[in-house]
Amino acid sequence: MKYLERVFIFFTVKFLWKFKGIFHEALRRFQAVEADGVWHLYRSLDQVDNKKTRFKLFLHLLEEESHADAFVDMYEELSGEKFTKLLFERKPIGGKDDPLWKSIAFVHIGEEHATERFKYISKFHNNQYFKENIDTIVEDEMGHVDLTETLLLEVGASKEDIRKEYRSISINRWKDSFLRLLSSLYEKIANTLLSILYFAFAPFVFLQSRKKLKNYFVSLDANKIKRFER
Ligand SMILES: [Fe+2]
Ligand SMILES: [Fe+2]
Repeated sequence: MKYLERVFIFFTVKFLWKFKGIFHEALRRFQAVEADGVWHLYRSLDQVDNKKTRFKLFLHLLEEESHADAFVDMYEELSGEKFTKLLFERKPIGGKDDPLWKSIAFVHIGEEHATERFKYISKFHNNQYFKENIDTIVEDEMGHVDLTETLLLEVGASKEDIRKEYRSISINRWKDSFLRLLSSLYEKIANTLLSILYFAFAPFVFLQSRKKLKNYFVSLDANKIKRFER
């Protein structure tokens, strides 16, 4: 799976991101993901009593906030446009009664994926300014991978629970990405078919209209239209 993801990142960075609009949109999405991480960490602070653990979570939160800000700067620098936020609905991780460690395990897997993804994005990208910024973020994310692992044990999760949770989160993440990919493919195929239909029939409609407009009076059969509407 990791190899497939690397190929996907290579293709995205080397080909898709040549279209500036797609690249700039990706920067906005990265900002949204980092800001979303801040929101989740902020919510989890309420569930922690231990001051040392709260302090670590707060530091983590500040670093994620700095990543979100870095993506705003990158967007404005590389697109030359004012940054506008992506709006989407935020959902808490897990159920109301789920223990805190489950959310931390979820964040941990997200940190691992972010580290891998950003590492390869930096490797395949040519813009020096962008690479330097991403490399700084990768260093922080690597620290977050270790930090979340330590936090999991600090909040009382057992190694066996952690291992099982990692597995189920990874499977769900792959399932979600696969479904997202399928739905975007479906959307693209449907749009292409509609465009083909439009261009295939447009000349006939045009010729028909021209023929009608040649007459001095244009005859309109209202009953025929009504039949279509039924
Ligand atoms: Fe981050
Ligand atoms: Fe992170």
